[in-house]
Amino acid sequence: MERGGEILGSQYPLLGGAMTWISESRLVSAMANAGMFGVLASGAMDGDLLMAEIRSTGRKTNRNFGVNIILMNPKLHDLIDVCGQEKVSHVILAGGIPDKDVVDAIHSRGQRVLAFAPALAVARRLFRLGVDALILEGSEAGGHVGPLSTMILIQDVLLALKGYPIFVAGGILRGEIVAALHLLGAWGCQLGTAFACCRESIAHENFKRALFRAGGRNALTPTQLDKKFPIAPVRAIENAGTEEFMAKQREILTQFERGEIQLDSGRLSLEHFWAGALRRAVRDGDVERGSLMAGQIVEMVKEEMTIPEILDSILTEAEDFLNNATE
Ligand SMILES: Cc1cc2nc3c(=O)[nH]c(=O)nc-3n(C[C@H](O)[C@H](O)[C@H](O)COP(=O)(O)O)c2cc1C
Repeated sequence: MERGGEILGSQYPLLGGAMTWISESRLVSAMANAGMFGVLASGAMDGDLLMAEIRSTGRKTNRNFGVNIILMNPKLHDLIDVCGQEKVSHVILAGGIPDKDVVDAIHSRGQRVLAFAPALAVARRLFRLGVDALILEGSEAGGHVGPLSTMILIQDVLLALKGYPIFVAGGILRGEIVAALHLLGAWGCQLGTAFACCRESIAHENFKRALFRAGGRNALTPTQLDKKFPIAPVRAIENAGTEEFMAKQREILTQFERGEIQLDSGRLSLEHFWAGALRRAVRDGDVERGSLMAGQIVEMVKEEMTIPEILDSILTEAEDFLNNATE
């Protein structure tokens, strides 16, 4: 598993995936100090906020860590500049396919670039663009997801691109699966949901409790009622907010069919529905109307553990599995 750690510059090839409002300096530095590769979430931050968060993380660890940048962020280039100035080792680009000049801009500052590939054709394109490593994130994951499950991405992408630096995410918790993915050619894995609820996570205790109580069947992506009104596939625990969102879709569709609203204004009000909702759940503890983003792995996340405890059980399970596999 050394090559994964080498490309990340961490002891173990395990990324703590960026989670907006959760992956801040305390969580990310604790991950780095435990030997993982922590990733700060820049979410909708501007350059100044990101700079403060990077510096705050740097005061808590002398190990390296990454910054996740959402490509739609209007301050994209400021954020890239800040990562360069602050000498962050890796930039993880999310929420789309980056332009070549974005990848080149990060490389010109001597940093590594990681990106997400939701399908084989995109994976090939990203490697052609020069990204240093890919994350394959299956639709079991928490937050914004692609259409394909981790199992399909493993077979269609990981096995097709043997030797390429690829990390796998979505629905991962046990060390056996981390080890099995390693045998299949993965350079490492990324986990999110399990760390949203760990002791070091600053998420509100209501948020953590809601995740511990939920089963995998409660971690759903919303149903889109009509193609004319596309909605973002975001996996979250069902609550009053997700029911109200369905009602909102029905209301907008009816109004549109009656000619009471235009297509654009209907789409816009659906887009605005969840604005600020993740913050409400994670920071304010509003588990009814906030967005409880979480992956299907909540099925197996039942208690608050520390990062070293989670890491230790993954490593022990992985080691036992590999020893048994080679016996
Ligand atoms: C609450 C929450 C917020 C997230 N926010 C982001 C984000 O801002 N950027 C991103 O690239 N991924 C985000 N993710 C995805 C995680 O980084 C990670 O890839 C995913 O959680 C892995 O799958 P798992 O949840 O099954 O462990 C988020 C996930 C969760 C649960």
